[in-house]
Amino acid sequence: MKPDPTSGTSVPITIESHLGSGTERRLADDVLDGLTHPFKELQPKHFYDARGSELFERICKLPEYYPTRTELAILEANAAEIARTTGAEELVELGSGAATKARLLLGAMRDAGNLRRYVPVDVSESALVGAAEELFGEFGGLEVHGVVADFERHLGEIPAAAGGRLVAFLGGTIGNFQPGSRRRLLRDISGLLGPGDHLLLGTDLVKDPEVIEAAYDDGAGVTAQFNLNVLHVINRELHADFDPGDFDHVAFFDREREWIEMRLRARRDCRVSIADLDVVIDFDAGEEVRTEISCKFTHARLASDLASAGLELRGWFEDPDGLFAVTLAGPIGAEPRT
Ligand code: SAH
Ligand code: TRP
Repeated sequence: MKPDPTSGTSVPITIESHLGSGTERRLADDVLDGLTHPFKELQPKHFYDARGSELFERICKLPEYYPTRTELAILEANAAEIARTTGAEELVELGSGAATKARLLLGAMRDAGNLRRYVPVDVSESALVGAAEELFGEFGGLEVHGVVADFERHLGEIPAAAGGRLVAFLGGTIGNFQPGSRRRLLRDISGLLGPGDHLLLGTDLVKDPEVIEAAYDDGAGVTAQFNLNVLHVINRELHADFDPGDFDHVAFFDREREWIEMRLRARRDCRVSIADLDVVIDFDAGEEVRTEISCKFTHARLASDLASAGLELRGWFEDPDGLFAVTLAGPIGAEPRT
């Protein structure tokens, strides 16, 4: 699908990668830090190799995993209004994955007569390239500028705006950060916005803990495989000898912090050697490693997080059951573009 770069015409698909050998270093550092703490922990971005991205797409289709279909329905109902009120010409999407939701927003931006460019940003190169090629095809040669990067470190590598900008951060991914890191990330993201630009943020809402726990511990065991995938990533990238069969997937809602936690629990005493790090890590039977949190939001929590990042809430879209919210925000004090 990619046009010939030697043909002299502009190249509608550009993919640039900011992950190099430094990325393996990152994984190595995160694993060394995380597994030598008294309470072991791994960083969620390391789930998403090609297999992890595929497993995540399967999670999105599970009957228990309500966030994806709910957010899609919210976007279906409101994309036209979002495109109209923002007047956005460019969509920058952080953690774009398979870009299923971008399709709705890009369609509405095109219908509003404004669409110029799509800029997906993701650590998963395979997901990013697949999505860029599909959308380029579907939107008749839409300019796609894909950025393979870590949005915690490389926001500065996103190309300068090509017009009124909408930055989308969907799927509840912002909930995967601890409160302090979450605010810092939101502040960094707000740095991508000019006065008339907007942030579109998808957040899962606080609800019955049983509904949340089922969404992260499905009957078919796909989420368990996804969680265990991080051990396969460490085995491959750092030459470790984890036996994923030695670990169980655990998900529980922390009612005080209002987040769900995913852990891997050792089924027996085990000793794992990680050759590239030159370390041996012992796990006691029953010992747990935290692999992810996913914070659930209320209107008040969102408004205060946004305010601390210099952003104000301009629109709130939720489903009829109040499961999930998509919010529109912009720089405090700036005049929204009309
Ligand atoms: N937006 C999609 C996918 C959400 S899953 C949806 O709503 O369904 C989270 C996505 O963010 C994955 O594609 C993952 O590869 C990406 N991701 C996770 N951490 C990241 C990071 N630090 N930098 C860039 N992308 C990241
Ligand atoms: N951002 C997604 C969420 O918090 C990621 C996710 C869904 C996830 N299911 C998971 C991460 C299971 C780890 C394990 O909903």
